[in-house]
Amino acid sequence: MTVADQAQRLRDLVKNEAVHTSSPVDPPPVLHRTTRSASGDAVHPPKPVAAPESRHSNTAPSLPEAGPKAHVIAVASGKGGVGKTNVAVNLGVVLAQLGKKVALVDVDMGLANADVICGVKAPYNLAHLIGPQKRKLREIAVDAPGGFKLIPGANGIGEMADLPTPMLDRLISHLTQIESQCDFVILDTSAGINSAVIAFAGMADTVLVVTTPEPTAVTDAYGLVKSVLKRTPLANLYLLVNQVENELQGKEVHQRIAMVARRFLQREVGFAGSIPYDKGVGLSVLKRIPFCIALPGARASLAVSHLGAALVRRTERADAVTPAHRRGFFARIGQWLGRARQPNG
Ligand SMILES: Nc1ncnc2c1ncn2[C@@H]1O[C@H](COP(=O)(O)OP(=O)(O)OP(=O)(O)O)[C@@H](O)[C@H]1O
Ligand SMILES: [Mg+2]
Repeated sequence: MTVADQAQRLRDLVKNEAVHTSSPVDPPPVLHRTTRSASGDAVHPPKPVAAPESRHSNTAPSLPEAGPKAHVIAVASGKGGVGKTNVAVNLGVVLAQLGKKVALVDVDMGLANADVICGVKAPYNLAHLIGPQKRKLREIAVDAPGGFKLIPGANGIGEMADLPTPMLDRLISHLTQIESQCDFVILDTSAGINSAVIAFAGMADTVLVVTTPEPTAVTDAYGLVKSVLKRTPLANLYLLVNQVENELQGKEVHQRIAMVARRFLQREVGFAGSIPYDKGVGLSVLKRIPFCIALPGARASLAVSHLGAALVRRTERADAVTPAHRRGFFARIGQWLGRARQPNG
């Protein structure tokens, strides 16, 4: 099968699977394993949208292959404050409760606060890993409630893309270790469109684009979708509508974004479902206990449980089709960011 044939098959798969609105938390189609070549890069993107920098490069130096890698879920948003960190933390809880080895990496380098929502004391963070202290990964990782590992973020060290090369290399090599030891790595990213978020979202196996039904949040979510898809046409983007009044509201928000993406970008955006507005979320944040632990029966907790279960089912199905022998996510990120800083890269 030629690369063009494969790309067409993928488009058809995405078309058939990506848009589905039958349940409050529709299982997102996790097609990542089948979208990559044996070397780990995505199959060359199809034509409709020009990719300034695709996930496949003939000129890239080859990196060592390793064993199976974690499924990487990036949690992103256009507008800030829509609920990314709460989603990331509670998804970590749910996946760990399902028996998966999970690490949550707080890559929000501006306002890292996953440790606050988890209610854990983190003496060290990513800054200590890459700074002169050179802390070990096991020193900075903390046990989060629910049974996952939290890698606390560093406030104010600047975006990953701006780190000096030795620091970036060190960061990438540590994050690569985490990836090889886990079933799932969740990335809590910063709001908005910056080069690190575009790279994370472009290369993650699944991207949850979180929005609320507010028009400003929806507009910004579309802005993010557009930027990511322009750069990486095969990115696996799924909209997660948080703080909805009811199921229908979430579906309508998804349909609006999916329709515009189809029309103007010729791409599908999947639907990961919706999470109801729930006063219990705010109360749990005040108590610094993830809401899936503090209030397991709350509507928001049930929605995140459904999402986690759907992700596990889809991932297992995808792994059964294509074993995950591919270059790791963080190795690809390192390559991407490294190439971006080369004069002609
Ligand atoms: N489903 C929900 N129901 C009610 N309130 C919610 C819900 N989800 C999030 N919130 C509220 O929104 C606030 C912001 O959430 P969170 O910190 O997770 O957003 P964020 O997207 O990570 O923000 P930032 O962009 O600053 O990183 C929370 O403190 C919480 O009170
Ligand atoms: Mg946050």
